[in-house]
Amino acid sequence: MNSPVYYVDGRFMPADQATLPLGDLAIVRGFGVFDFLRTYRRVPFKLHDHVLRLYNSAEQIGLEMPWSMGEVEEIVRETNDRNGYDDAAIRIVVTGGPSPDFLMPGQQPSLAVMVEPVALPPVRQYTEGVGVTTTRIARILPTVKSLNYLGAILAVNEALKAGAVEAIYRTPDEHVTEGTRSNLFIFRGGKLFTPASDILPGITRQVVLEIAAEEYAVVQTALSYADLLAADEVFMTSTTKEIVPVVKVDGQVVGGGRPGEYTQDMMERFKAYVDRCLTEAAA
Ligand code: PDD
Repeated sequence: MNSPVYYVDGRFMPADQATLPLGDLAIVRGFGVFDFLRTYRRVPFKLHDHVLRLYNSAEQIGLEMPWSMGEVEEIVRETNDRNGYDDAAIRIVVTGGPSPDFLMPGQQPSLAVMVEPVALPPVRQYTEGVGVTTTRIARILPTVKSLNYLGAILAVNEALKAGAVEAIYRTPDEHVTEGTRSNLFIFRGGKLFTPASDILPGITRQVVLEIAAEEYAVVQTALSYADLLAADEVFMTSTTKEIVPVVKVDGQVVGGGRPGEYTQDMMERFKAYVDRCLTEAAA
């Protein structure tokens, strides 16, 4: 199989030849930001929203962005076109760049765009639902999509050992905020609830909030661990997962142990929304 084409600092090249200097702050300190989107039938989904979030992430950590948003969007489109996958996963990475003291950022961040065929969760996760665990590890600067996923990697590793697929951040005051790579929702009494703050503002979450409001009361509010366990239905959202039903939390059955009807309705509404976007893009 051909190597994917990546973009790094003005050049397109085969993925296996794409490199960054070892002294980059992303490598020596984990300093940098990224965003991650997918295409449906070659069309990038919510590209502008992802680039906007990338810039918000960079601003929050004081990382200079010497490119305009339009330029970044154009580079993403071109890298995607050069690869030509029907359904691609696209990673836009901005690193801290070189630093004389290996600590303080300079003015030369690197921009890389990596495109791969999208890797989707197995179908049974949607038909049967998944288990999640909760973790006491905290995410620093939760509104930033930073390159530092140390806590996430540790938490997911624990989740996998427990037979679950994702870990949910659980705060010292017993709130649940989001997953390591996903946002969290519950249905209770026919209303949809999702945490309002201390989360990454997920693009899938944003779409879900918009389409849910056509049918359900939607409440953005803090959720406790007890709320999660007592929910009628639980699901999580992300770019590649879309909407995945959750049927177990820390080994305890939630929401009757199978994907609930509201969640299934949301999954259908999400698919219909994507189809509408594709129709609009083709027009
Ligand atoms: N993660 N919360 C966190 C901490 C995330 O890393 C992600 C995405 C989300 C969901 O955001 P979105 O709906 O925009 O994908 C929420 C990506 C998929 C990843 O790191 O792999």
